[in-house]
Amino acid sequence: MAQSSPVRIAPSILAADFARLGEEVHAVAEAGADWIHVDVMDGHFVPNLTIGPGVVKALRSHCDLPFDVHLMISPVDYMLEPFADAGADIISLHPEAGPHLHRSLQTIRAMGKKSGVVLNPATPIDAIDHVMDMVDLILVMSVNPGFGGQAFIESQLDKIAALRTRIDAHVAAGGQPIDLEVDGGIDRETAPRAIAAGANVLVAGTATFRGGADAYADNIAAMRGGA
Ligand code: DX5
Ligand code: ZN
Repeated sequence: MAQSSPVRIAPSILAADFARLGEEVHAVAEAGADWIHVDVMDGHFVPNLTIGPGVVKALRSHCDLPFDVHLMISPVDYMLEPFADAGADIISLHPEAGPHLHRSLQTIRAMGKKSGVVLNPATPIDAIDHVMDMVDLILVMSVNPGFGGQAFIESQLDKIAALRTRIDAHVAAGGQPIDLEVDGGIDRETAPRAIAAGANVLVAGTATFRGGADAYADNIAAMRGGA
């Protein structure tokens, strides 16, 4: 089912030039990005290692856009406050990352930050059943987490559509708004399909940063489409 809220594009800095991250974040903001997606990996929960809160703090002065911090780390609770203090605006975590998802979401919200739950390709949507009233965002992984540049997993379109139905029913019943984000393998071809299924925030690493800074605005506009 299509939805009517504006489509937001969240470039994943995983595909940026890490030697020039400040410039890269500034460049995608100038090119029309809505959020900056920050992939945090610990080499344990996922088979790759990226950045910690120090990098988020360093980037904060380069960009006013919301920082959408995707934590792929386990344990996760001890890192919530450092990322909040560093300047994260939205903090998302996987239910598999710790035994107390409800508590983790409480912690994020108590710090005044927006909270998100991330569903891996094989994680059922039931994982959010009892926390629906305390999330600002649900993120559907359309690749297995750990690396950029992977192929979009088609089966996740049905999951997005099912979540769109649930979110719309939740809001219609008086619940808070919830963004529905998709992450992995998003490009000009898959973006319109994810939007048609009901996503309203698209994460894109490879497809945003392809072609260098001169191409960023066109890359972002192409994924946003006419919505
Ligand atoms: C994967 C990350 C994604 C990744 C997306 O674990 O969560 O955000 O950077 O990369 P692309 O857009 O290249 O698939
Ligand atoms: Zn991500």
